[in-house]
Amino acid sequence: MKKFIFLAAAILTTCFAFAQTTSGLDPLVQNVYGRNIQKLNGYWNHFADPLETGYYDYRRQPTPNGFFKDHEVDLVKNYKEYDFDLSPTLAVPGDWNTQDDNLFLYEGTIWFRRVFDYQPHEGKVFLWFGAANYDTKVYLNGEKVGEHIGGYTPFNFDVTDRLANGENTLIVKVDNKRAVDAVPTNNFDWFNYGGITRDVLLVKVPKDFIQTYKVSLKQGTSDVIEVAIKTTKAGETVKVEIPELKISRTATTDENGIARLEARAKMTLWSPENPKLYDVTLASAHDSVKDRIGFKTIATNGHDILLNGKKVFLRGISIHEESAFRSGRIFSAEEGYTLLKWAKELGCNYVRLAHYPHNEQMVRQAEEMGLMVWSEIPVYWTIQWERDDVYANALNQLDEMIERDQNRVGIIIWSIANETPHGEARDRFLSSLARYARAKDNTRLLSMAMERNDKSPEVLSVRDNMSEYVDIIAFNQYLGWYDGLNEKIDRVRWEIDYNKPIVISEMGGGALYGNHGPKDQFWTEEYQAELYTKMLRMIDERMTGVAGLSPWVLKDFRSSRRLLPQIQDGFNRKGLVSDMGQRKQSFYILQKWYETKK
Ligand code: GCU
Repeated sequence: MKKFIFLAAAILTTCFAFAQTTSGLDPLVQNVYGRNIQKLNGYWNHFADPLETGYYDYRRQPTPNGFFKDHEVDLVKNYKEYDFDLSPTLAVPGDWNTQDDNLFLYEGTIWFRRVFDYQPHEGKVFLWFGAANYDTKVYLNGEKVGEHIGGYTPFNFDVTDRLANGENTLIVKVDNKRAVDAVPTNNFDWFNYGGITRDVLLVKVPKDFIQTYKVSLKQGTSDVIEVAIKTTKAGETVKVEIPELKISRTATTDENGIARLEARAKMTLWSPENPKLYDVTLASAHDSVKDRIGFKTIATNGHDILLNGKKVFLRGISIHEESAFRSGRIFSAEEGYTLLKWAKELGCNYVRLAHYPHNEQMVRQAEEMGLMVWSEIPVYWTIQWERDDVYANALNQLDEMIERDQNRVGIIIWSIANETPHGEARDRFLSSLARYARAKDNTRLLSMAMERNDKSPEVLSVRDNMSEYVDIIAFNQYLGWYDGLNEKIDRVRWEIDYNKPIVISEMGGGALYGNHGPKDQFWTEEYQAELYTKMLRMIDERMTGVAGLSPWVLKDFRSSRRLLPQIQDGFNRKGLVSDMGQRKQSFYILQKWYETKK
């Protein structure tokens, strides 16, 4: 009971703290791509506003006549020094950095404007963003709709009563400035792509509609499907149909608009070898949503991970959401598919989508392709653990990640952090996130990428207070790169004293594609290949309990931390594939080793 009170108090404090920085949000509409949508993607007028002239007056107070007023400002009293009509355009979705060389390293506010036509719709309309990085303020026809903090999760606003028949003006302020009290903080090893980076949609639903739902196997069973549906109306009948399983069930929503039902069926469980998905229709008197949903069980037993009750080895790779060839934030299904295809060719049955939730299409593609997924929030490195509003921000991103993808069968692991320094405040912060994740979704495993905490220079280990809160002991290690040279790999011992599955969530080293030399020379393909050869032998011969790995990283990716001329040139070079899609020697070494793990 005490735990429950603590959790409830934590959530209440959080909601209050976060309400101060994210306002006007409405509960996420589940599965927007299965609904009646009007896309607002396209070329939006924009201009940079580094001094926030369009938001603050000279006393640094928010001005009532900001750029979000567009043409309405009284030209006599408030002369205007901006004009969206005369401003250039940027493609939405898309990061601004790779669309305009003048904006490549720009960190600050950009104002976007989209004028669109809207025809009256009987029912409600939500303005939905797939993601915008990082601090987003939204205005419709000159009035503030709301704001959102966080660069990698969807958010939406009920705009039913704010839309005009005919022409509407949508203005969005996106500020990607890094900050020490943000999530992630101002220090992270990936490129700070700014902008409206995913789809913008008008989602048109009936007045009474199905807001969200969860369809999954009931914990501990492999033939009982459990459904929870939330609608906006109490006492209404809802129906779930899965024709291929001859399931057609109804239930009635309670006073909170929630209906629950169970249905027993002999089904084909989803697996990497057979990524079976079923057509599911959820309907109420006025609404109907279609989805493709698979069913699996995921559990642990000692050092083993069990998928559908059978031991599975996670043949993984870590992936950033950055397109190949163009090296920009991924915004299309094709770009995400390219990376996942490479992972399949590597022999993967699992991908670690680092360090933040990737776009919904990629997660759906992964489940169609038979790839298990580790999905993570960007609680990365030195978060400000003591701050309630920072916790609220992280919790909101965790909630939005789970809310969006709770029906994605491929996701087996929710990750709440990456490489966070040990400490009491960090343990409090992360254990609260862990409790929240379990309360929201107990059908998946919980983990985080820990750091090593060795017993001695030669006896390597992982010892972390968070071990009791996670199902999988995952950790990053860079033997042969940040930690000694390749020869060190051959002489270390491991002692990890947890009776839980161990996953090496990161390992690897850098190499410039086409740079050849002796295997003891940093940055050559030969050095990286030698590192992988030794590392994989170490795992086979001198580690116990390893249930999987996701080496760092599939593809060289942009990072402003990587400054070595003629080698890095602004890229992290630990990829098994270059940013131009060229495979390094280590790609084939890992591919061959994965053959032995099938
Ligand atoms: C860390 C971190 C990664 C980073 C990598 C590296 O483990 O988790 O985000 O890119 O090391 O240094 O290449």
